[in-house]
Amino acid sequence: MKGILLAGGSATRLYPLSKAISKQIMPVYDKPMIYYPLSTLMLAGIREVLVISTPRDLPAFRELLGSGSQLGMSFSYMVQPRPEGLAQAFVLAEDFLAGEPACLVLGDNLFYGQGFSAMLHEAAHRAERGGACVFGYYVKDPRAYGVLEFLPDGSIGPIEEKPREPKSHYAVPGLYFYDRTVVERARSLQPSARGEYEITDLNNLYQREGLLYAQTFGRGFAWLDTGNCDSLLEASNFVATLQKRQGFYVGCIEEIAWRNGWITGHQLAALSERLDKTAYGQYLADLVNE
Ligand code: G1P
Repeated sequence: MKGILLAGGSATRLYPLSKAISKQIMPVYDKPMIYYPLSTLMLAGIREVLVISTPRDLPAFRELLGSGSQLGMSFSYMVQPRPEGLAQAFVLAEDFLAGEPACLVLGDNLFYGQGFSAMLHEAAHRAERGGACVFGYYVKDPRAYGVLEFLPDGSIGPIEEKPREPKSHYAVPGLYFYDRTVVERARSLQPSARGEYEITDLNNLYQREGLLYAQTFGRGFAWLDTGNCDSLLEASNFVATLQKRQGFYVGCIEEIAWRNGWITGHQLAALSERLDKTAYGQYLADLVNE
């Protein structure tokens, strides 16, 4: 399975913050935002990742993340010329995917909770066997999201995008797993009323064939998005609180690469040396001595 990290958009809800730089490069406490969704892909065991962004912002991601070899990974980069919807990512990624199943994560989605890794692996396996796997997260007001409907027979109804009257409290986070037919299906979509190739329409192509699966996150789980100034601050405070209390870092890509066995302790030590003036670098150094 290969990963796609979508970090486009103009983030007008964060103006003037995002007027000159990409939202997904902004800090969430002590790391650039994109580290968090990247760490999600890594926890799913995905080593090959395509970063898609705007013509303006792609160079910054390239500078931040490089080739991926420092993490035992491989990063590719591609421009989405115009913001024409999340589902367009699969059409752009056709050569990169080369017929493999895919996981898409949105560059501003942050996940945290026990058992997450196991859920990711299960979703990946499910999609590899054929179909699409999404998640459901209970929120007080789901109207800003894609919303799940659970039918009495236990199956999933069509997802509704930003419904006025949601059929459940379960929002669909920006994390999706698909089988190898995803490019072909994405290609068959028509733009929606707002002129975008909608991820919800793609998911509903699977739903119509009974091939859409959903796993729900429990009460103890955190899914945060970072679309406005308040949610950005809340995400920072959330990460700071957890890290200071437990001492474990959230979204630490170097740590995950090392725990996944993709880099050696020696390589991790070398990465920590470059950051030795920061608490982040000290954290990496302490891991090596663990
Ligand atoms: C997009 C999707 C929506 C999903 C959300 C998650 O919304 O269209 O279905 O629930 O991401 O962050 P957008 O951010 O484009 O409003």
